[in-house]
Amino acid sequence: MLAVGDASDTSGYDAVIVGSGVRAGSWHGSVKKWVADNAGALTDVPTTFFTACLTLQADPGKTDEVRAYTDALIQETGVKPLDVGLFKGLNEPKLFSLPERLILKALKSPQGDFREMDVVAAWTRSIAPSLGLHS
Ligand SMILES: Cc1cc2nc3c(=O)[nH]c(=O)nc-3n(C[C@H](O)[C@H](O)[C@H](O)COP(=O)(O)O)c2cc1C
Repeated sequence: MLAVGDASDTSGYDAVIVGSGVRAGSWHGSVKKWVADNAGALTDVPTTFFTACLTLQADPGKTDEVRAYTDALIQETGVKPLDVGLFKGLNEPKLFSLPERLILKALKSPQGDFREMDVVAAWTRSIAPSLGLHS
């Protein structure tokens, strides 16, 4: 796994899984930029997206809303992910900037780490064949 700042391009990779936490209904700008910058290459290599956010912690039924967080990116870049994994994220104040903490506090967002690594692992296994990877 690489942070986008450390990921150069897709050469040498058989498949790409790229994902992001969410700020105000959208992926981090740095991740969107990496996808846009590599859009051509990402159409040639099996690619899937994932999103981690708090909407699914508040209401696990809101999958359409969370899937839509990547609609504009998909439309603008032409990258067609084979799947978009939708996961619960975390609200650990020590990981956020003061403005971010204040926004989540104003929204009365519950604190905690809501990531379900068993769900992530199951998703990873389920998408492996479509990415041409052995699970
Ligand atoms: C300022 C701010 C805005 C956020 N906006 C949303 C949002 O619009 N929808 C959502 O579901 N989660 C939202 N979140 C929750 C984050 O996506 C979640 O905490 C995620 O796990 C953070 O992971 P990251 O720090 O790696 O991006 C927001 C969090 C912060 C701090």
